[in-house]
Amino acid sequence: MSAFIIYQVLVLLIFNMYAVNSHPKRIGEESYVLYSRDDWGAKPPTDVEPLKTPVPYVVIHHTYIPEACNTTEQCMATMRSMQNYHNSLDWGDIGYNFCVGSEGGAYEGRGWHTIGIHAGPANSFSIGICLIGDWRVEQPPEEMLKTTKALIKTGVVNGVISPDYKLKGHSQIMSTECPGTALQNIISKWDHFSEGTKFNKPQI
Ligand SMILES: *[C@@H]1O[C@H](CO)[C@@H](O)[C@H](O)[C@H]1NC(C)=O
Ligand SMILES: [Zn+2]
Repeated sequence: MSAFIIYQVLVLLIFNMYAVNSHPKRIGEESYVLYSRDDWGAKPPTDVEPLKTPVPYVVIHHTYIPEACNTTEQCMATMRSMQNYHNSLDWGDIGYNFCVGSEGGAYEGRGWHTIGIHAGPANSFSIGICLIGDWRVEQPPEEMLKTTKALIKTGVVNGVISPDYKLKGHSQIMSTECPGTALQNIISKWDHFSEGTKFNKPQI
């Protein structure tokens, strides 16, 4: 009897962990937790332009400020503060399509189907992923990099990112230090990295 009750409690606990806090996505060997806008308490967006998919580019960012977040609670607070800041700039929502925390969580920004505000001329042709923190000198944690790669893969599998997409850092499109030298050096070794600083508006 008591073993049965313990079992029931465990099942409930595990169910609640997943049902309340997270939406785990599993692709092959890689898995990460994706926190939705509702999970982090996003305000409703006022700028909602549909993104034409599949997009030919993925653009990587850091935040510089806010600093790295290390727990889900911290990262959710960071998402809310970035949305407030971007709203104050009249962007009508957080600029990025997705963000990733140092703990390896992925956080939905504008998501897969809405044009972001993150890379000027590339906004309408890309998914913008921001790795929360200042990655000029410090190396982003492995968990964060793994999730970023898995997130890109999700986009490809779901037909949102073109299978022959080009991967670029923000500074390859606009004059900025973003995503920081340390992070730029890392992504320059990833599949699909595209050299060069010229952004040609794709014909789609
Ligand atoms: C997260 O960890 C980094 C590295 O230890 C630290 O610099 C940063 O201040 C931490 N972030 C917060 C919000 O505590
Ligand atoms: Zn950037």
